[in-house]
Amino acid sequence: MSSDPKKIETVLTENRIFKPDEEFQKKAHISSMRDYQELYKKSIEDNLGFWETAANELHWFRKWDSVLNEESAPVYKWFVNAKTNISYNCLDRHLNSATKNKAALIWEGELGGQRTLTYNQLFHEVNRFANALKKLGIQRGDRVAVYLPMIPELAISLLACARIGAVHSVIFAGFSSESIRDRVLDCEAKLIITSDGGWRKGNVLPLKNIVDEAVAGCACVKHVIVVKRGQGDPFPCHIKEGRDHWYHRIIDDVSSRCEPEQMDSEDMLFLLYTSGTTGKPKGIIHTTGGYMVYTYLTTKYVFDLKPEDVYWCTADIGWITGHSYIVYGPLMNGATILMYEGAPNWPDKGRLWKMIQDHSVTIFYTAPTAIRAFMKWGDKWPNKYDLSSLRLLGTVGEPINPEAWIWYHRIIGKDKCPIVDTWWQTETGGIMITPLPGCTPLKPGSATLPFFGIEAEVISDDGSQADAGILAITKPWPGMLRGIYGDMQRYKQTYWSKWPNKYFPGDGAKKDSDGYFWILGRIDDVVNVAGHRIGTAELESVFVEHHMVAESAVIGIEHELKGQCLVGFISLKEGIDTTDDLAQELKEWIGKKIGRFAMPEKIIFSPDLPKTRSGKIMRRLLRDVASGRTLGNISTLADASVVERLKVKYEED
Ligand code: PRX
Repeated sequence: MSSDPKKIETVLTENRIFKPDEEFQKKAHISSMRDYQELYKKSIEDNLGFWETAANELHWFRKWDSVLNEESAPVYKWFVNAKTNISYNCLDRHLNSATKNKAALIWEGELGGQRTLTYNQLFHEVNRFANALKKLGIQRGDRVAVYLPMIPELAISLLACARIGAVHSVIFAGFSSESIRDRVLDCEAKLIITSDGGWRKGNVLPLKNIVDEAVAGCACVKHVIVVKRGQGDPFPCHIKEGRDHWYHRIIDDVSSRCEPEQMDSEDMLFLLYTSGTTGKPKGIIHTTGGYMVYTYLTTKYVFDLKPEDVYWCTADIGWITGHSYIVYGPLMNGATILMYEGAPNWPDKGRLWKMIQDHSVTIFYTAPTAIRAFMKWGDKWPNKYDLSSLRLLGTVGEPINPEAWIWYHRIIGKDKCPIVDTWWQTETGGIMITPLPGCTPLKPGSATLPFFGIEAEVISDDGSQADAGILAITKPWPGMLRGIYGDMQRYKQTYWSKWPNKYFPGDGAKKDSDGYFWILGRIDDVVNVAGHRIGTAELESVFVEHHMVAESAVIGIEHELKGQCLVGFISLKEGIDTTDDLAQELKEWIGKKIGRFAMPEKIIFSPDLPKTRSGKIMRRLLRDVASGRTLGNISTLADASVVERLKVKYEED
């Protein structure tokens, strides 16, 4: 468990409190702690009434028979028998108001090109693409994989799938062809949407070529749609007659009106694969009605959206943050969204700050790992630009260390912008524990208090409530996952078997005397590297596929910039020499098999790995070795000399 006592000590010595800025407070949706507490109390006491009121702010073709059905728990059903369409709520709903001609999406390419789509234009684009998908035979319920860079067509693809009731499964464009193949085969996607390439740090990522390799082993894939990102000529790629279709051609001769499917509230909206504690990624299922209501309401309150805001979330749509807080939540709220294709340090380290200045961004939502990199690059970069348009900052994805929080507050927020440190997961669909910017006094490093309707507890190992222990969510909520695709047993086992009727998110947490939550990181074998969730078991099984590797154990240790990084302990097959070149080859092996973002920081060769008498690798001791700590209890080891030798060797290196 990464919630070691030292860390608890550190977070608890953080006792600075930042009250909301008065100007901000005056205009906020929720502007006093009294209002928060009153509404929170109501949202818990009349939980279903609360969610019903929220749902009534959106459009439904047919309303629900009941708000919640718990009969098949833990597969809860929300807004039972209601019919709606989330693309209708993101687009059509705004066409009868002034929002119609407002910018929905302002996009900037890495090389500087810009595109702006109003709500009306986005509506027509989505409708056309929805018709194109239908033309290729995609029907309600079919799975569509999406492997695109951060270009408008990525958002358009999600909305077009949602419009016709196809289930999208976005695969982050940093994944390898093998990772694509695993995911496509698991959900039996019929179609993949990709592009000839995308820009990243001045280079072109050859996405279509990567998809070609992946699709070679996927009989289920009947069509590939290719967005042309190259200007003038496309980036070099092969178009296979009959299977591959240029995006711009197939949207050319279709109508720009496509009636939205009337989806059942519990029809699947999307699948998103995430890492767990076994080697196989989990296809997290989100359905339509509950996810829609939850992302709508959390966006409204957490980002305190106003019609004139320019909202920028720097996540990639390939992860849940982009689904919920670039596409669905902000569009349902009629916001203007800024979207950026490339790297934050291209062409120089001032790129993001320049974009904030150029687009007068008011809300900026990013990850602690990025903030630590900005800090390292130096104040001179943000100080070169006018950041006075900013009024609200946010963070997500990992615990933020108080030092980074204070820097973000002072250098980017100029001491006036609240920071919402939002705790949530792929599985929760939306933000669960968070400050509300107009009322919550902030403590650097704490995600503070539960959102409306959310009940959270910290539980000790024996199951009783405690100040430090494991986080639990004790009430169902509309945005919750509904299962793991094709493996409901794993769903029940992973999330609902630890305590009766309580959701287990896998995070350690601490609650202070004000009831504030301090999230301490994962307690399972999932490592959070630069905000990306990586299962150590996944890497271990890839390592042993290498012909020279006999056995491996992967652990996460603290890293100054990335929060955590991966270390692979490898034992090689007989007769193979350990060399620096082989260590590099093994790192690249992971890069090739999973994706570069998952490459371990360090490879440590060891003839044996420390094991218990029953043969279980003791990762806790490997963490001690790699972090340079004194070894913990070694009494259960089959052979204690293994870890002692390893420690000596590690310290000598
Ligand atoms: O450990 C928690 C951490 O990220 C995990 C969820 O990862 P993922 O499903 O990829 O979603 C990330 C974006 C929502 C959590 O189990 N985490 C997320 N937000 C925070 C956090 N840890 C501390 N503070 C946060 N604000």
